Amino acid sequence: MTKRTLIGPFKQILPMTGIKLKGAISDHELEVIVEGGILIEDNHILATGNFEDLKLKYPEAGVQLLKGNHVCVPGFVDAHTHICFGGSRAKDYAMRNAGKSYLEIAHSGGGIWDTVTQTRKASIEELTKSTIKRANRHLKNGTTTLEVKSGYGLTVDEELKMLRAIKEADKEALPELISTCLAAHMLPKDFDGSETEYLKMTSKELFPILKEENLTQRIDAFIEQSAFSADDIQAYFSKASQMNFHITVHADQFSAGGSKVAVEFNAISADHLEASGDTEIELLAHSETIAVALPGASLGLGCDFTPARKLLDAGAALAIASDHNPGSAPMGDLLTQASILGTFQKLTNAEVLAGITFRAAAALKLEDRGKLEAGLLADLAVFHSDNYQDILYNQGNLKPCMVWKNGELVFDRHK
Ligand code: NIG
Ligand code: FE
Repeated sequence: MTKRTLIGPFKQILPMTGIKLKGAISDHELEVIVEGGILIEDNHILATGNFEDLKLKYPEAGVQLLKGNHVCVPGFVDAHTHICFGGSRAKDYAMRNAGKSYLEIAHSGGGIWDTVTQTRKASIEELTKSTIKRANRHLKNGTTTLEVKSGYGLTVDEELKMLRAIKEADKEALPELISTCLAAHMLPKDFDGSETEYLKMTSKELFPILKEENLTQRIDAFIEQSAFSADDIQAYFSKASQMNFHITVHADQFSAGGSKVAVEFNAISADHLEASGDTEIELLAHSETIAVALPGASLGLGCDFTPARKLLDAGAALAIASDHNPGSAPMGDLLTQASILGTFQKLTNAEVLAGITFRAAAALKLEDRGKLEAGLLADLAVFHSDNYQDILYNQGNLKPCMVWKNGELVFDRHK
């Protein structure tokens, strides 16, 4: 038996439909449905439109009546996080702000390796539990789909532990979790061999198990001076492509180079891009690769923002993600960060909202969400307001009052 529910009336619904995937967007392009309703059937949207019209057309549907002013947007998609980890890096943050460099911190026992050590100490149950907890906090802020990377294990067994924990967490967490293997996060300090040897071993031993256990479809690598070079990664990404994994890259964070590799390998996304210059912007703009800005990392490290305005003006598809991780991006608040990026990079409301909805879904190759349209998943974020502009205007301080995931009301602030 199918179940139909009509939700509304909303003062405004922003379906995010009819907007292109790439390039700049003006706010005039945003369709706004006033006095709107959303008809849900099971886990998906059956129709959107005027609330009263839908009520007449579908008299059999149950009605979830909203009192007061509400605005509805698609549930947010956070396409880049590292929320599966053990321990804390509060010490790194304090040291950075006291003037220590990234390398000095790494040498004094901090950095990614510190989290690797702490994550290896955690049991799979502990990792599962803390991942669920963090994911559910994101849901209360409107995120209904959340990518989660491994990358703090850095041995075959420890990477498997992380990816199995993420798979377990996905069964219970309120947002849907999309996992990514980031075994190429850095050369582990206890690996006896070169970068090339580590990557060769990883692709040979880990990749087949990822397929067998259906742990992930996505392979990521950190291309950076402190991690892997463009040359190091060639064979690794070739193997990943041959095995039909989707590729994504930590690119151009401190120095340019990764985005070129991303485009060469037709990666789904190139993320970070704080150090991208005009050459990299042009490359990305003329590719199918989604550019993902991570303002949370700029705020956590005190670095420049991704040149989002230039990317959009050049014609790139821009998504915005939180990069939530214990080191460079501890805040983990997508809406706040996206709003701030909009302020500093002069992005329209439409560009920011597209960056955390359908353009972010494209960065995960998901075509079934990110817009409020018949046939797509009923993932909704609802705010107390009569004007959608309030969402970004409040810079993250206006939280959703209700969130629907797969057609179910999973969060209600009033309860
Ligand atoms: O996306 N850039 C590399 N990786 C993470 C940071 C991870 C960490 O510092 O623990 C990032 O910023
Ligand atoms: Fe990251």
